Amino acid sequence: MRIKENMKTKTEKDVEKTKDLKVLLDEKRVFKPSEEFTEQTNVKKWMDKHGIKSYDELLEKAKDLEWFWGTVANEVVEWFEPYNKVLDWNPPWVKWYIGAKYNIVHDALDKHVKTWRKNKVAYIFEGEPGDVRKLTYWDLYVEVNKLANALKSFGVCKGDRVGIYLPMIPELPIAMLACAKIGAIHSVVFSGFSATAFRERLNDCEAKVAITCDGFYRRGKVIPLKSMADDALREAPTVKHMIVYKRMTAGSELVPWNEERDHWWHEITKDQPRTCETEILDANDILYTSGTTGKPKGVIHAHGGYAVGTAHTLRWVFDLKPEDIWWCAADIGWVTGHSYIVYGPLILGVTSIIYEGAPDYPNPERWWSIIERYGVTVFYTSPTSIRLAMRFGEEWVKKHDLSSLRLLGSVGEPINPEAWIWYYTHIGGKRCQIMDTWWQTESGTFCISPLPITPLKPGSATKPLPGFTADVYDEDGNPIQNRGGNLVQPTPWPGMLRGLYKAPERFKEIYWSKYPNIYLAGDVARKDDDNYFWIQGRADGVLNTAGHRIGNSEVESALVSHEKVAEAAVIGEPHEVKGESILAFVVLKKGVEPNDELRSELREHVGKEIGKIARPDKIKFVTDVPKTRSGKIMRRVIRAKVLGLPVGDIATLSNPEAVEEIDKAI
Ligand code: WT7
Repeated sequence: MRIKENMKTKTEKDVEKTKDLKVLLDEKRVFKPSEEFTEQTNVKKWMDKHGIKSYDELLEKAKDLEWFWGTVANEVVEWFEPYNKVLDWNPPWVKWYIGAKYNIVHDALDKHVKTWRKNKVAYIFEGEPGDVRKLTYWDLYVEVNKLANALKSFGVCKGDRVGIYLPMIPELPIAMLACAKIGAIHSVVFSGFSATAFRERLNDCEAKVAITCDGFYRRGKVIPLKSMADDALREAPTVKHMIVYKRMTAGSELVPWNEERDHWWHEITKDQPRTCETEILDANDILYTSGTTGKPKGVIHAHGGYAVGTAHTLRWVFDLKPEDIWWCAADIGWVTGHSYIVYGPLILGVTSIIYEGAPDYPNPERWWSIIERYGVTVFYTSPTSIRLAMRFGEEWVKKHDLSSLRLLGSVGEPINPEAWIWYYTHIGGKRCQIMDTWWQTESGTFCISPLPITPLKPGSATKPLPGFTADVYDEDGNPIQNRGGNLVQPTPWPGMLRGLYKAPERFKEIYWSKYPNIYLAGDVARKDDDNYFWIQGRADGVLNTAGHRIGNSEVESALVSHEKVAEAAVIGEPHEVKGESILAFVVLKKGVEPNDELRSELREHVGKEIGKIARPDKIKFVTDVPKTRSGKIMRRVIRAKVLGLPVGDIATLSNPEAVEEIDKAI
């Protein structure tokens, strides 16, 4: 057995003692991995090879970015032609592996089918109704080639954009890889997003082709994705073809069809050759764009650096070995899935789980049953899912043998120590270290995260990984300790974003204007005496609800687009399970009656405009919302009122009486 109890009895007592611990800042416990475990990790073996004695020495050595990222790159990827320079840093612009010829699909698929991995399972797929498919690297390779050839037959060339709107089925990675193989740029839209959101993204990137499926299964129901895509395509003039995968087991023939534009996936791929040349690209050519908020913001990532970044961080942080069964339970529609279900794991040649449905369908033991049945060894999810599981109770967990697990992970928002301890105790059986990975769509890969050799403090993402730097600055750009400030990343890393699609000025403005030449992450954080980072949440107008980032203003504008709404102010309210819930204050147009019916109508309206995840949890009708003289909604004031905190300076308000209004409504 690779791992044993890696806990000391002292910490076990601590676990009991602090059952209702809620306050992050008071967290003092330290969880150390056992020596036996440490010895066998990928990172420790690497350190031995390079004569590095300690975690601190590793962090120090890796400050030589060219040496570190040059060494690492040659271990995880195969270039068609080698680079002549590791890094070209001209902030805010960065290039990695200059001169290298490359394609990420070579590492994700082509190289494996020439080795024993050809017959290894790449994906174990479980549909919500219980159907199972196992695809080997060879199966995946063939399917990708056939689809890539079909895309070419539609005239898709290097640099063209393809919009992908698919649920968690193997065809989603297949579609992404088919695009990458021929040098096309994919823009994946989360299948939980609405038709409007899909349309905006198609138009933003001027996609030539859209890929979707007839429908899929969620909580026992069929979600009619093709009809939603049809709706999106009504006003997406650049899209000439739509490829539709047949996922539904019945009823596909009833799906509306546009003979000229729509093509069944199985029909157009049937007679395609099983091989397809992998386009030879520059390491800095664009791989994909992806947005996180309701409004498109195309974050650009490039083939070379992104490949090195995802594969390397995954092999070190989650210590993946050939025999592991890896489950990153995120959706591929978000960056977590792009990096750690598709590209990272495939480059490393590991076996991953893809599960289509809801965690609690048909009941809350579904996830634990999947871990048991497939012998999952490393499991990665979000704090909101952990809190949901806590709420269902450990009875559901106890029904299953989770002893195959050896390492756990968390991502998406700060994990409260209470959830951390529950996860550690009930899922990890007190043997698994928890990797709390801080990163963003923009960063492409983990940035601040423990390694399995790092002593952990529950609730802290610990330190920047080797080869990364981070700091906390005050408003004037001075580094600060033990106080909340702005999280920044002073040095570049291979997976970092290369810009915003068609918006270089916005790119400079959002990330690089506050502190010259320093990347501003947009999070508030604190650095403790040991230089451990405690992420506190978003500083900008962004909500973090159930692991999704949604702009406050996005929800506000969706509300205001309803004919009966005059104004809206949206804030995040701390929520036990979701992290934040969405609370909206709505001012109705003259003569409109506020009532419950309208409340649900507005919720549905936001659902339609952005997606169900953005629907306000609560709507309060008011006659005014606090605004500055320039008309900006003062969310800070509303939030303070809701949380019962001092409202602070309201001298700039044009309508101080609106604060009373908020008071009355809550
Ligand atoms: C934002 C990025 C990166 C994958 C999923 C979200 C928050 C992410 C953590 C963490 C505290 C975290 C931050 C960040 N966040 N991971 N381990 N601890 N906060 O991607 O939608 O781009 O959101 O999620 O606020 O800025 P995203």
